[in-house]
Amino acid sequence: MPLTAPPIAVLISGTGSNLQALIDTMGGDYRIAVVLSDREDAPGLRRARKAGIPTVVIPWSSHGDRDGFTDAVCDAARRFGAEALVLAGFMRILGPSGITAFPDAIINIHPALLPAFPGAHAVEQALAHGVRYTGVTVHFVDEQVDHGPIIAQEPVAILPGDDVESLHARMQTVEHRLLPRVVSAFGRGELAVEGRHVHWRQPTQTRGVI
Ligand code: GRF
Repeated sequence: MPLTAPPIAVLISGTGSNLQALIDTMGGDYRIAVVLSDREDAPGLRRARKAGIPTVVIPWSSHGDRDGFTDAVCDAARRFGAEALVLAGFMRILGPSGITAFPDAIINIHPALLPAFPGAHAVEQALAHGVRYTGVTVHFVDEQVDHGPIIAQEPVAILPGDDVESLHARMQTVEHRLLPRVVSAFGRGELAVEGRHVHWRQPTQTRGVI
């Protein structure tokens, strides 16, 4: 087991229900040091403040390009001691300097079974495509969008009569279970990345990939 809960930064753009799940599960395995958002009106910021977690807003427009924005995000995360970034409904793509700054230490949650339906409209696209199952993927972030090594996946059946709202609501109950489980395992140093494969291993005295 790690000697102390590793500090992480959670990045959001919206409602922050996954952030809330992470707040509710926070403890010995990880600590949320800061919540970062590109939108000052992101409702999830209120969840952080209520939990007494510092927040920083970094508007995309204040940087003008991906590299400048990425550096600002990483600098803010580091200022609060974060050793990893968790993208929980963060609608911006970080540039290559972010991957270099946090190697194998950026985790994203995506509402589809990657590599199917990457991008910002995964739930709509799964419905439109007529697949019978979609699901939730939690993965490490690499230089390509919704592409890095997969840590965990769980399928969700598409039911007759589903629309985007009903399907997404069912997927979110899965997300709220899966993401804290992954971040806890990460915090305990149990995730090891080997190429495209992520191995879940037994806890050790070290922090592993952190
Ligand atoms: C989630 O469905 C997540 O998979 C996607 O964005 C959504 C964020 O929801 N990347 P919330 O803000 O955590 O409620």
